[in-house]
Amino acid sequence: MNLNDTIEDDKAAAGQSVGAVRSAGKKVFLKTYGCQMNVYDSQRMSDALAADGYSSTETVEDADLVLLNTCHIREKAAEKVYSELGRLRDLKAEHAAVGRELTIGVAGCVAQAEGREILRRSPTVDLVIGPQTYHRLPDALARVRRGEKVVETDYALEDKFEHLPQPTRRDIVARGVTAFLTVQEGCDKFCTFCVVPYTRGSEVSRSVAQIVAEAEQFAAAGVRELTLLGQNVNAWHGVGPQGADWGLGQLLERLSQIPGLTRLRYTTSHPRDMDDALIAAHRDLPAVMPYLHLPVQSGSDRILKAMNRRHTAADYLALIDKIRAARHDIALSGDFIVGFPGETDDDFEATLNLVRAVRYAQAYSFKYSPRPGTPGADMADHVPESVKDARLQRLQALLSEHQRDFTVSSVGKTMSVLIEKPGRLPGQRVGRSPWLQPVIVDETAGEIGDIIEVRITRAGPASLFAEPVSSAG
Ligand code: 5AD
Ligand code: SF4
Repeated sequence: MNLNDTIEDDKAAAGQSVGAVRSAGKKVFLKTYGCQMNVYDSQRMSDALAADGYSSTETVEDADLVLLNTCHIREKAAEKVYSELGRLRDLKAEHAAVGRELTIGVAGCVAQAEGREILRRSPTVDLVIGPQTYHRLPDALARVRRGEKVVETDYALEDKFEHLPQPTRRDIVARGVTAFLTVQEGCDKFCTFCVVPYTRGSEVSRSVAQIVAEAEQFAAAGVRELTLLGQNVNAWHGVGPQGADWGLGQLLERLSQIPGLTRLRYTTSHPRDMDDALIAAHRDLPAVMPYLHLPVQSGSDRILKAMNRRHTAADYLALIDKIRAARHDIALSGDFIVGFPGETDDDFEATLNLVRAVRYAQAYSFKYSPRPGTPGADMADHVPESVKDARLQRLQALLSEHQRDFTVSSVGKTMSVLIEKPGRLPGQRVGRSPWLQPVIVDETAGEIGDIIEVRITRAGPASLFAEPVSSAG
């Protein structure tokens, strides 16, 4: 997942009139850290809170409830939460001085990993709720109102998605023409650096029926591009008609039959789960976008083994060849970790060599951050911070060079663009290319939700500029 961004969920569920309104008139400020799965979860929590009577606010000072949806992937991400809680403690005191109440909740992966410890470190917190129990949020808040400190971090037996309210058509429309849909959660791979198997639990796939129903609902509300999410999305499996075993390739084929869903994406994938049916989906289904996030983490076999990735650099490169043979214009994106315990200069050079062989269009690279409870944290030969810094700099310089080459190579090309939103400057609209590049067009080029054919005229630092050639939808 791309976990390097902090995203504030700005989507108000205001004015919704669903169910009993136990908390009518109350306002929630929801802040989302980390990956797209958290963004999706925040939207579902926002829907659950709307059904409970809460409206959303983007101003923390106005809120009666502040909910932080947190990320635990690296130490920095987790520590951000505690600094935010420090600020909230002061706000709560200011509110109390004028007789107002402020409820503070911590959700997400820090909640799952640290549980009650959060209450010890930040007594100002009222509620700690893990990702598997979001459907219990309204009840947990009712208990908080009765004066309890609530910690909900069990792996619930029931399926949270079955119990969470569906977003209303109005909410979906407000969220735009692209949407996320979680199809799979958790991970059984146990890479030795990673907390995900501990915070999100083991791999669970949602059913075909649930996914199709939700996708149809999105399409009916005007969503044109759907991104299927999962920590190990390509490990998704389900049962199709007549009891057939389905993998993600078959699911994509089914979803591509839904009218209006013109573009499909999925993230994040593990190299070991890239099966032939999925590769064939990239070849055969025009709706499946030619972009694949396929993290490799390292190019050194020794380090890959220590990371328990269970593939070699050569396996990965052979897989990339196979994918490119099926879809020659596919753009690849990756994640890298530098400074895993025991990583030598030679190991790091092997990573640079792999990067040179693949030439990623997009990449995310991180310094190794030891996570409590993971095997990597207890390994010998931790790499000094200064060495990690130097390696990260070299790696990022190489990755940015390739990224820039990819961007520049788009100039002069004709491609389809999904118009997503107004641009920053008046008269502009921003869309996305099939390769996830932001593309700026004139507002006369089409309406939000249109997919238009454009020619790229120029590459800016962060986006492409284009002019329409002819309208395609
Ligand atoms: N330290 C640094 N990076 C990590 N990632 C996961 N765990 C760690 C860690 N302990 C990176 C991996 C993963 C991405 C989501 O975050 O590259 O693919
Ligand atoms: Fe973490 Fe590895 Fe699972 Fe990805 S595949 S979530 S890196 S354990």
